[in-house]
Amino acid sequence: MIASSLISLNDNGLTSIQEKYFSSEDKHRSLLLGLFSALKDKDPNATIKRTEDGGTGFTFICTVPSTAIEDEKEIKPIPTVLKWQNETLCKVEQFGARFFQFFNFSSPATHLIEAENPHAQALMRYASQEVASMESRIGEIPCIMMPRLLSNNLKDAIQKKKFQNLSESDQFKMLHEFGRIAAVDMFMSNDDRFIQFPEYENPHILPKGAINTGNVLLSFEDTKLKSIFPIDNCPAAALQKSRPESSDEDLPLDLFWEENDWENVDESNSSEEEEEKNWVDFYSQVFENFCTSPEPFAQQFAQTFIEILEDPDNSSLDDISFVKEAFLSGIFEQLKKMNQNPEDIIGEINRFDFSDESISLVKSLLLKNLNILEKRL
Ligand SMILES: Nc1ncnc2c1ncn2[C@@H]1O[C@H](COP(=O)(O)OP(=O)(O)O)[C@@H](O)[C@H]1O
Ligand SMILES: [Mg+2]
Repeated sequence: MIASSLISLNDNGLTSIQEKYFSSEDKHRSLLLGLFSALKDKDPNATIKRTEDGGTGFTFICTVPSTAIEDEKEIKPIPTVLKWQNETLCKVEQFGARFFQFFNFSSPATHLIEAENPHAQALMRYASQEVASMESRIGEIPCIMMPRLLSNNLKDAIQKKKFQNLSESDQFKMLHEFGRIAAVDMFMSNDDRFIQFPEYENPHILPKGAINTGNVLLSFEDTKLKSIFPIDNCPAAALQKSRPESSDEDLPLDLFWEENDWENVDESNSSEEEEEKNWVDFYSQVFENFCTSPEPFAQQFAQTFIEILEDPDNSSLDDISFVKEAFLSGIFEQLKKMNQNPEDIIGEINRFDFSDESISLVKSLLLKNLNILEKRL
């Protein structure tokens, strides 16, 4: 049975030198300084380049030559990412990464660098050579710095036909892992990857019409799947209001979803007062409905993942039941996991600083959803 052969995909995807600079607070600051001085010295091995796949346009793929770091003996390029965005989003994303790590996903650690940091400001000046609109934000917005994983995002992987030669068990593992990620996304209401929430009366989780293929990274070794990394993990869809207009190149999916189908599923749950509820209640209700939704809904949900991996040469992915089993088993496995040790999750939530009013709602949402899980599973 394939499910029993599931192996962990949580290789952290980092070289030792990368780990060294991201393993604790402050070490990454020497990378920041190193990148700045290497760029200043016009070191050809130093790069800061805007990613083509981002939504905000403020995500930069960087390479720090280790030779620009004081006391570093190993000579290697150190791949990193700098992402400028408003403080709320930086914090929300930091929490998201930590929360995924808590469930043993290999999300890259994110480190906050204050808007006042002179090296970050200087780097923003370099960055604004590519993105002019950043110039006026220098000194105003902070950034997060993280290790750059040597991997493909889902869009690249599809384009490079990485799935074509994947074994059946790797396909299963991948879909299973996507399911686990979707479950955490549901729990924290992140609608920027696999799932979305309808805005109106029907409080349900839906498969995203166009999956954000920029927010999952995969690494391969020859034709084998090595790791899956959820990135850009932003809890609480409502906080997206503070996000600049997204221009992520979403992969259009012609869903198997029929308008009528989900109207039927939702019928019993629609309520006129929904619009007046605050969003914490709303998303908790969405989550509750998923946990109690009938089997066909969950099946329908899983089908969308066939399209994304559409590959005529790939017989097993043509098999809807295979995809459903893999994806849904991932969702349910993760939901059960989250329900196993609620005290540990509460502990993890409490370790994070939610005192900032703009993100404190995330905490209430998680606690509410945890309660729902305890009642429902
Ligand atoms: N830690 C990382 N390692 C490797 N690539 C990354 C990393 N972070 C971002 N990227 C690349 O940059 C793209 C955009 O990053 P993302 O964090 O999703 O930004 P945005 O919030 O703008 O969508 C990703 O799709 C990926 O290709
Ligand atoms: Mg993204």
